[in-house]
Amino acid sequence: HEQEIMSSEQTFIAVKPDGVQRGLVGDIISRFEKRGYKLAAIKLVTASKEHLEKHYADLKEKPFFPGLIAYMGSGPICAMVWEGRDAVKTGRVILGATNPLASTPGTIRGDYAIDVGRNVCHGSDAVESAQKEIALWFDKSEINTWKQASHDWVY
Ligand code: PPS
Repeated sequence: HEQEIMSSEQTFIAVKPDGVQRGLVGDIISRFEKRGYKLAAIKLVTASKEHLEKHYADLKEKPFFPGLIAYMGSGPICAMVWEGRDAVKTGRVILGATNPLASTPGTIRGDYAIDVGRNVCHGSDAVESAQKEIALWFDKSEINTWKQASHDWVY
């Protein structure tokens, strides 16, 4: 039991500017909380173009890249670190498929989005990218280590 908690994963989850504007921050946080994940870090940030270009560096050659950077910089983003068993993969399941038209109802995008260019939320796609993204968006001092009292009831 202790070992499972120690080895639990962290993922970077962000509510994109459209999600913040539409008042979906609370709902998105709530879904992760209710599932049993632990919030380790959170802040509202308006990201610079340079910061977003680093975040999406792998997509530099994509035709949608300039539009994606403009959209992501158009307003504040709610950046978060969520922690718990299999957080990266399960986080992506909670978000739904990248293209909302392929997202299942019951997922965030399946409930709230229809356009891939306004898909409400972001989640790391692998443990390695989660580590990179967390380091890009948060200072070490912003990541909280705390014991979730409900933990013993979740695991
Ligand atoms: S790809 O082409 O397979 O590498 O792209 P994918 O992995 O599906 O998505 C990577 C991120 O790009 C966003 N994306 C788009 N944004 C705007 N317009 C279009 N057409 C588009 N296609 C993909 C997608 O939402 C992913 O961003 P994140 O922040 O990870 O959700």
